[in-house]
Parts: sequence; structure tokens; C-alpha cells
Amino acid sequence: MLRRRSALPPFLLALLLVTVPAPAGTAEQNWLPPGSAIGVTGAPPAELIRAGTIRDERWLYGRLLFHSPALLGERAVRIGLSCNGCHTNGHRNSSFFIEGLSDRPGRIDVTHRFWKAGSDDGLDNPIDIPSLRGVRDGGPYGTTLQLPDLAAFTRHVIVTEFAGPPPDDADIEALLAYINSLAGPEAAGGVENSPPLDGISYLPLLAAPIAAEDFHAIDRRYDLILSDYGRHAAAGDIAPSDIERDLARLAALYEKAAAGNFAAASLIHQSLSGGQ
Ligand code: HEC
Repeated sequence: MLRRRSALPPFLLALLLVTVPAPAGTAEQNWLPPGSAIGVTGAPPAELIRAGTIRDERWLYGRLLFHSPALLGERAVRIGLSCNGCHTNGHRNSSFFIEGLSDRPGRIDVTHRFWKAGSDDGLDNPIDIPSLRGVRDGGPYGTTLQLPDLAAFTRHVIVTEFAGPPPDDADIEALLAYINSLAGPEAAGGVENSPPLDGISYLPLLAAPIAAEDFHAIDRRYDLILSDYGRHAAAGDIAPSDIERDLARLAALYEKAAAGNFAAASLIHQSLSGGQ
């Protein structure tokens, strides 16, 4: 689907835009039981980030991972579900509902075989999706299984609950940098992101791996960024012509990096970042 590795001619770009799993809409209908609704209805909750949070590379990468279904494995990719799908903007999606797994909106059974063959505990046990606001100061974590630290629980969520590929340490660190930055409701210094981060660009995440000539990291981030563009295409919050322009440059950047020409990749990256 997103595995094409060469510069994309326009007709393929158009194809990419329709094959990326949509967070809401037609794609998910094929995989979710009828009657399910996993999008947010109404205004999404505010994203409250602690005052003084340094939005560095690691934090930005963590935020991208938080929004990436790929982190959670195949089932999640098919329905376009990421951490953010349930813990929307670090809070909770109170309209989340999967027929057969939820008894009420905002509740879900995370030990159901829907997520992973073999992990069903045989019980019908939907529980509240908790908010992650101020989660850094909480603990122990989890309802059914309790773990003392957030890193261990985050790994458990990805690998055991959602059958995702085992994350590496850098992924966990980044994810935690983001989760730890979520302000609690009572935190006096907690500030709503201003301006809202909806239009945040993840393109800066390619700078370091290009400079380090680390193709493996470029490859991974390229996929995650591409799928983020897919979400924007589905949401319609970025003009299609802008998306198409960026994707064409990204594909060219990727091709240069794959060929070992990091100097050329860096130039394209600069033009991409300048065009924001
Ligand atoms: C399908 C909805 C869903 C998705 C997707 C999801 N979660 Fe959760 N999350 C839950 C539910 C339900 C709980 C409570 C269940 C439990 O404790 O095991 C929970 C609990 C947690 C907790 C513990 C909170 C506390 O105060 O105890 C953390 C941390 C967490 N999730 C992080 C994540 C991260 C990180 C991701 C993405 C990698 C993620 N979740 C994806 C539904 C979801």
C-alpha cells in the first residue's frame, strides 16, 4: 500500500491518497462491525501540554507515534486506529464505540480477540477509556493489569493489548516524552496548545537522520509521515494541491536517500521545509 519506493508520478500520488487508511469513512467500514463509530463526534477535547514543555525532536516524534496506527499493528492499521483514536489529544474519546466490544460509547474491551487472535480472556469486559491528562503523576497504571511504570505499561499496551510490533527503546522514549508532557486538569501551568497543533509539521523529523546518513531511520519516518499526510487527506484539513506537492518532494527525497545521495536529500528537505 505505502510500500512504493520510487518517485511517484501524479496518477500514483492520487492513488496513494485514496489507499491510505482513513480515520473515518469508507475504509474502516470494511473492517469494523456495523454500528461502530471510532471517530470523535463533536469538538475534540483540547490538547493540554504542560507549560515549559520543550517541543524538541523527541517530543515531536512521540506525538507522531501517538497518532500512528502502524505502532499498534495490523488490525489497528486496517481501521486507522492509533493511541490518539482512544486517548484523543491526550484526553479521552467519549464517543468511541465498537459494536460487540463496547457496552457504551467511551468504553472498550481491550482483551477481546478482535485485537489479537489468542489473547481473548473469554470475558465480556469493556472498561472506560481513561484520560491521559496528568498521567505522569499517576500510577500504578492500568485497570486489568497494573504496572508500576509508564514505560512498561506503554510497551504492554502496544505489544500485548494491540499485538503491535515490539517498539524499540527510542520509540518508547519519544512516546513517553509526549505522554509525560500532557498536563493534568488541575495543573495550574497546564496550557492549551496555542496555536492548536492540528497543522503541525513532522517534516523536521527527517533532518537529523539525513544529516546522520541513517537510511533506516529515514525509511521509518518517511512511512509514518506519509501516513500522516494520508490522515490529513482524509480529514480534508490540508489543500490537496499542497499535499500532492509535498508528497512528490518527499518521494524524491526518499529516492535520493535510498541511493545514498544524502546531500541531494538534504537539499530537497530544505525546499520542503521552506515550502511549509
Ligand atoms: C481501543 C482504545 C485504546 C487505544 C487505541 C489505546 N488505549 Fe490506552 N487505554 C485504553 C483503555 C480502555 C485503558 C484502560 C485499560 C487498562 O488499564 O488496561 C487504557 C489505559 C492506558 C494507560 C493507563 C492509564 C492509567 O491511568 O492507568 C496508558 C498510559 C495508555 N492507555 C496509553 C496508551 C498508548 C500510549 C496507546 C497507543 C500506543 C494507547 N493507550 C492506545 C484504551 C485504548
